[in-house]
Amino acid sequence: MKTEVAPQCLPAKRRSLIEDDREGREPGSSVPEPADQSLDFTLDQEGGRDLVTFIFTLRNAKSSALSHAINIFETVEAQIHHMESRAVRKDKSRVDDLDFFIRCEVHSSGVNTLINSLKGMAEDVSISKEEKVPWFPRKIQDLDRCHHLITKFEPDLDQDHPGYQDLEYRERRSHIAGLALNYKQGEPLPRVDYTTEEIATCDCCHELLGHIPMLADKQFAQFSQELGLASLGASDEDIEKLSTLYWFTIEFGLCKQNGHLKAYGAGLLSSYGELMYSLSGEPQYKAFDPEVTAIQTYQDQTFQPIYFVSESFEDAKSKLRVYASKIRKGFSLHYDPLTCSVEILDKPHKVKKALTQMQDELKNLCFALDQLS
Ligand SMILES: [Fe+2]
Repeated sequence: MKTEVAPQCLPAKRRSLIEDDREGREPGSSVPEPADQSLDFTLDQEGGRDLVTFIFTLRNAKSSALSHAINIFETVEAQIHHMESRAVRKDKSRVDDLDFFIRCEVHSSGVNTLINSLKGMAEDVSISKEEKVPWFPRKIQDLDRCHHLITKFEPDLDQDHPGYQDLEYRERRSHIAGLALNYKQGEPLPRVDYTTEEIATCDCCHELLGHIPMLADKQFAQFSQELGLASLGASDEDIEKLSTLYWFTIEFGLCKQNGHLKAYGAGLLSSYGELMYSLSGEPQYKAFDPEVTAIQTYQDQTFQPIYFVSESFEDAKSKLRVYASKIRKGFSLHYDPLTCSVEILDKPHKVKKALTQMQDELKNLCFALDQLS
């Protein structure tokens, strides 16, 4: 997920330089936050290196001013990743003056030195610190920021949806969906008074028969959670592959049990017709292999022509772990079940804290094993 720069936050000159830079980047790369006009740079107390963009104007840049500016970067051992200059647009008479845009990696303790030194020799100095990690929900309250979702096959958008012509159904569906989308973490759960007709037709059987019983199984719940964790901060392409994996497992997965083929996907458990078809021997069956499954095209209008069969949930989980470990993100995550939050392991002390937690648990388990043996 990208953080967009709000254009009105920046003066036109700076916005143009930053926007130019953003357009030139590869998809999925991070985007600078709006320039901090006050230049009160908050030091990274943990002593890491930051990606920082400096924008400033140099008088007589064609003389020695530029080399002096570069010396300042060298003094604090900043590693320059990108440098760009252009004529000052606001005043055509200033032919010897240039605007500069320099993106560098610098130790956090050197940033204020850089700012103050540049202010001593350049005009209009501004900075922006880049996030190395894209935004994604890290705690349950963050999900309140993820309600602007557009899903496929919605009756309001898709003419092939069976409810497309039924305005009353669409309005009712939209009202119930609105309650869910407007819900904020911590508020009392909104209540839906279902009509007698709705209760008789069980409009929520997919969740009740399909998802809830499976999520009550610990192995399956872990599998489902690992799919979600793998998607955090992943590229759009990887997220698409993970959602395909979700489709062929959590929605339409088959699994062996005591040598027999069983359905566990919610889309099968809540659809009698497709449940019978999926176990009939008629469709094609393939062994669950995340590399293959992730790129299989799927059918969302009728029965699946192909199903993937796992040896067991444990087997599916371990295969998924291997697959997820190959997704390149540039950072690692740790999920803390005590706080239901996700932490980015980008500092040694965070890794150490997670390891200590794990060590304590291991000690407890080893002690229990000793007692038993
Ligand atoms: Fe579902």
